[in-house]
Amino acid sequence: MTSPAIGTVDAGPGITLDRRLFGGFVEHLGRHIYDGIHEPGHPSADADGFRTDVVELVRELGVSTIRYPGGNFVSGYRWEDGVGPREERPRRLDLAWHVTETNEVGLHEFAAWLEKVGSDLMLAVNLGTRGTAEALDLLEYANAEVDTAHTRARAANGRTEPFGVRMWCLGNEMDGWWQVGARSATDYGKLAARTAKAMRRFDPDLELVVCGSSSRTMPTFGAWEREVLAHTFDDVDFISCHAYYEPIGDDAQEFLASAVDMHLFIEEVVRIADEVAAERSSDKRIMISFDEWNVWYQSRWNAIEGSQPRDEWPVAPRLLEDVYTVRDAVVVGDLLITLLQHADRVRSASLAQLVNVIGPIMTEPGGPAWRQTTFFPFALTSRLAGEQVRRIAVESATFESTRFGVVPTVNAVATVDDAGISVFVAHRSTTDATEVRLDLSAAVGGRALTVTEAHLLHDDDADAANTLGDPGRVAPRALDGVRVEDGVLVLPLPAVSWAAVRLS
Ligand code: AHR
Repeated sequence: MTSPAIGTVDAGPGITLDRRLFGGFVEHLGRHIYDGIHEPGHPSADADGFRTDVVELVRELGVSTIRYPGGNFVSGYRWEDGVGPREERPRRLDLAWHVTETNEVGLHEFAAWLEKVGSDLMLAVNLGTRGTAEALDLLEYANAEVDTAHTRARAANGRTEPFGVRMWCLGNEMDGWWQVGARSATDYGKLAARTAKAMRRFDPDLELVVCGSSSRTMPTFGAWEREVLAHTFDDVDFISCHAYYEPIGDDAQEFLASAVDMHLFIEEVVRIADEVAAERSSDKRIMISFDEWNVWYQSRWNAIEGSQPRDEWPVAPRLLEDVYTVRDAVVVGDLLITLLQHADRVRSASLAQLVNVIGPIMTEPGGPAWRQTTFFPFALTSRLAGEQVRRIAVESATFESTRFGVVPTVNAVATVDDAGISVFVAHRSTTDATEVRLDLSAAVGGRALTVTEAHLLHDDDADAANTLGDPGRVAPRALDGVRVEDGVLVLPLPAVSWAAVRLS
């Protein structure tokens, strides 16, 4: 047991939380859509072919906005292929993932699914193989209300009412060499600016996201943001960040420092965006859409990518089906804490992805659907987070990270609302238990609150996971010993753990 970690929850006023921070991401990739959310032959499938067991789990997860349809996929996608009579939709090669896309699910079906799960649509346009004209066509098809060829087609395809999509991504990871139609920052910046200006002629209130770097490790990171924003600053609201984390070798302690990287990434992008603003004497603040984040064992994928026979183009193969451990879930919980800590500038974020593909939810064709370990911190944070985010300055034991130097073992954040306060804590130590003592008195203004919920995610085996054979192996349990002493919340936490506590 290390000496206690001591912290004070900020008095306020705090940061107003944008619920879009709890967004998700669904890409046409592997078994995400086909044999994931959509499986007409499954016993739980509804009349539209959607698995109702998956719908229930997505609702439980509490996902606000869902980004669609990619990802790398969108950079070769023709949205028109996914509308109209299903039997007439073309099968196409998807060059991003070397598979065949059947187009059985497109905009209409996906929007219908979103209504079932209670989430909003965020659309990405293809700026890889396509350009401004096609983005405008999609915008008009999706959102226009007047009588045009596109709105007639939409009505003929079953939808008179517009889809009313507010948030639009201007392409995906356009800096990435792997992206179909990847561009230089100058090319992309000009195209994104032209497209954004044109889209805003249709509706000035659209919220537009320009592509930032695909990761903080990209060689062009920083320069890319500066150049792209130099072109698009006046025409966009958000710049994207993408980050995936995985263990580096066997060093679990280093992996548990992943949230430090996310913190630095956000601070660096904010600094660049504000410098671009300062250069033009603007007080406009570009927000961050952290629209891909998760643990992803990407090195496993890189090792097998390309080994698939080049003449085979399978439909919905098993791709990126990572099985998540308790340790992974602690990292995911810590990343969520970090997003909340930056909620003043991160106004939207998308856990990548949702079902089967690096997802918190897994399914088996004809069989069950279950929660991965990473499901729990997301669902609990989304459900318990209140309106105002309050930062917590914590002094805790530390460890030495090879990438980030001295790193605290405890990371925490709180949210406050009329009914009470919620506290989220990640304990990164791989070796020691600790006691976390958080002074709530300033944050709750002297109100006497009692603990109404206290959840602990931990297992003596940090490699424990939920699988088809044992889908209930890992679940949060009640946090023993949690208490309030003179306005101080006391949480006894084992090594490698994450906790969520609600006081009302
Ligand atoms: O989420 C998997 C892939 O990761 C996405 O398609 C792409 O945008 C990113 O590189």
